[in-house]
Amino acid sequence: MSLMRNALAAVALIGAFAVVVPAQAAGKTCKLAIAGNDLMQFDKKELKVPADCGEVELTLKHSGKLAAATMGHNWVLTKTADMQAVSTDGMAATLKNNYVKAGDKRVIAHTKIVGGGESTSVKFPTSALTKGGDYTFFCSIPGHAALMKGKLLFCWTGATRT
Ligand code: CO
Repeated sequence: MSLMRNALAAVALIGAFAVVVPAQAAGKTCKLAIAGNDLMQFDKKELKVPADCGEVELTLKHSGKLAAATMGHNWVLTKTADMQAVSTDGMAATLKNNYVKAGDKRVIAHTKIVGGGESTSVKFPTSALTKGGDYTFFCSIPGHAALMKGKLLFCWTGATRT
């Protein structure tokens, strides 16, 4: 009888879980990866964030050999309209501050600077992105963004999201 009660409790739990799943799925962490090399290039021009991601975990790998001070890279995400100003302000922030101005509210997310063989990652919520928004990622080390930039797309499979 007690076994039966446990079995029923388990079924009830499974039932409750099944109801909860859709809400949790909206908050899942989606992993994105990008690499930078010794030729001042990212290996991707576009990153897509699927609609059902609640959070993004972006990993930047430096696939080259050069040191951070010579050919380091970071990954900075802003609205495309903010990119130039954020980049200009970042140049004044120096390597020590990853070439990102402290407390810059226009920066949606950014990693630290990595050198050859290193990796780093950053997490940010998709609530920081809006449907149909125009977002650009770039490396904010002075001179790099001319080559090292691309678009981040927040993809929506459904027509709307509440
Ligand atoms: Co770079």
